[in-house]
Amino acid sequence: MSNKTAKLQIIGLFIAYIILIVIYKDGDMSDFEDFQTRSIKLGYNFEEHFVETEDGFIISIHRVRAKNNSELETSQNFNNNETSINMETLQQLQKKNPILMGHGLGGSSDTFNRNVEEKSLAYFLARSGYDIFIMNSRGNKYSYQHKIYSIEQSEYWDFSFQDMAKYDVPAVANYILNKIYNQQAQNQQQTIEQNEQIKLNYIGHSQGCTIILAALSDKSVPSSYFENVVLMTPAALILHGTSPVSDFIQKVDVLSFFQQAGLHKFLQMNAFNYYLCRAIPYICEFSVGITTDNFESPINHDLFYKLMYHYPAGTSTKAYIHFNQLMKSKKFQKFDYGAEKNFAMYNSTQVPEYALSNINNKIHILAGTQDIITPLEDIYYLKEQLVNAQNVTITLFNEGHCSFIIGKENEFLNFIPQILV
Ligand SMILES: *[C@@H]1O[C@H](CO)[C@@H](O)[C@H](O)[C@H]1NC(C)=O
Ligand SMILES: *[C@@H]1O[C@H](CO)[C@@H](O)[C@H](O)[C@H]1NC(C)=O
Ligand SMILES: *[C@@H]1O[C@H](CO)[C@@H](O)[C@H](O)[C@H]1NC(C)=O
Ligand SMILES: *[C@@H]1O[C@H](CO)[C@@H](O)[C@H](O)[C@H]1NC(C)=O
Repeated sequence: MSNKTAKLQIIGLFIAYIILIVIYKDGDMSDFEDFQTRSIKLGYNFEEHFVETEDGFIISIHRVRAKNNSELETSQNFNNNETSINMETLQQLQKKNPILMGHGLGGSSDTFNRNVEEKSLAYFLARSGYDIFIMNSRGNKYSYQHKIYSIEQSEYWDFSFQDMAKYDVPAVANYILNKIYNQQAQNQQQTIEQNEQIKLNYIGHSQGCTIILAALSDKSVPSSYFENVVLMTPAALILHGTSPVSDFIQKVDVLSFFQQAGLHKFLQMNAFNYYLCRAIPYICEFSVGITTDNFESPINHDLFYKLMYHYPAGTSTKAYIHFNQLMKSKKFQKFDYGAEKNFAMYNSTQVPEYALSNINNKIHILAGTQDIITPLEDIYYLKEQLVNAQNVTITLFNEGHCSFIIGKENEFLNFIPQILV
C-alpha cells in the first residue's frame, strides 16, 4: 500500500467517524456513566477503595452493596421472609462471605454493570445480599496510578496477568479481609478470631479466572482466603479455540509488531467503537461472532454498543501477548521472554508452568456452549489438571464468552447464589 493511499484511508476513516458522531451525538447520556455514577444513580451503596501493591500500582476496588430499604432477590439463600433491608440487615448479610470479582482481559468493573440492571452481575449479587468487591486490575482506567511511573511511561505497561496474579490479587484480598472486615469486626466488638472465619468467595470472568488460578497455583495468596472459587469461562489452558481472529493473531504476530512500534498500551478506541456499533450493529455482531462467541450466543446486541464505550478499559499489549503465548504453547505458563531473559527471570531457559495441582479450593466452573475462545474441550482439560481441588464442578450454560457479560439470558445469574452457600 502506498503512502498516499494509506493517508487517504486514514482521512476517509476520520471523516466517517465525524459523520457518525454528528448523526448519533444525542446518545443516551447514561451510556457514558462510569461504574460509580451508574451505581449511585441506581441507589446502590457504593464505595471506592484504593490499595497499593508491592510493586507500586494503586489498584481501585469498587464496592457495591444492596440499596437501602430495597427488596432482596428471592433466593434459597434466605431462610426467612425478610425482603426489605436496611443497613442493619445488610450487616447481618455480611456474615455471608463477601465476593471478590475479577474482570476479563482489557475490562474493568464496568463489565459487571453494563447489562440492564436486573442482569448485571454486580447488581444482581448485591441485591442477593452479598458485599461485592470488584478489583480493577492494573492498567485499566480506574487503576492508572502508580507510585513511581505514569501511564505515559513504557515501564508502567510492562505487565501481564502474571503480575496481576502475583501482586494485585494478594493486595486486594488482604485489604478486604484484614482492613475492611477487621475494622468492621472491631467496630462491632467482635474478636479477631470470630472474624477470621470470614473468607472471600471469588468470581472471575475469563482473565479474572486466569489470575486467581495463577495466584493460587503460585501461592501468592493463601488458599484459605477463599471459600468458593467460581470461574466463568476461564481462560487458562487455551488449546482448542476456534476463533478465526485469535488464529490470525497467532500466525501473523501482530501484537509483537505493536509492541516493537512502541504501543505498550493496547489500542483503545471506545468512542469510535461505540458510535460504529450503534450506527452499523452488523459490523460488531460479525466481529464478535468471529472472535469470542459464535453467532448463536445470546448476546444482547441492543446493548452491546453501550458496553463498547467502556470496553476495552485499558491494558498492556504485553497482557495480550501473554495470552497469545498460552494459545501457542498450549500450556498455562509464565511470560516467555526467550531463553536468555528467561534464565535471568526464572533461573531456567524454559518458562515455568503454573502448578494447577497446588490448588485445593472448591472450584465451580461455568462454561458456555457458544464460546469459541475457551470451548468445552479446554474446560474439561482444565478440570483434569485441577487434581487437588475440591469437587470441581462444571455447569454448562447456553452462553458464549461475552454473553456472560452482556447476555439476554439470566440462568447463570440465578445459579451463582445456589453454589455460594
Ligand atoms: C443507606 O443508609 C446508610 C445508613 O443510614 C447511609 O449511611 C447510606 O448513605 C445510605 N445509602 C444510600 C445509597 O442512600
Ligand atoms: C415464608 O412465607 C411462606 C409463604 O408466605 C411460608 O409458607 C413460610 O413458612 C415462611 N417462612 C418463614 C421462615 O417464615
Ligand atoms: C537455579 O537453578 C539451579 C539448577 O536448577 C539450582 O541449583 C539453583 O539453586 C537455582 N538458583 C536459584 C537462585 O534459585
Ligand atoms: C465433595 O463431594 C463429596 C461426594 O459427593 C461430598 O461427600 C463432599 O462433602 C463434597 N465436598 C465438598 C467440600 O463439597
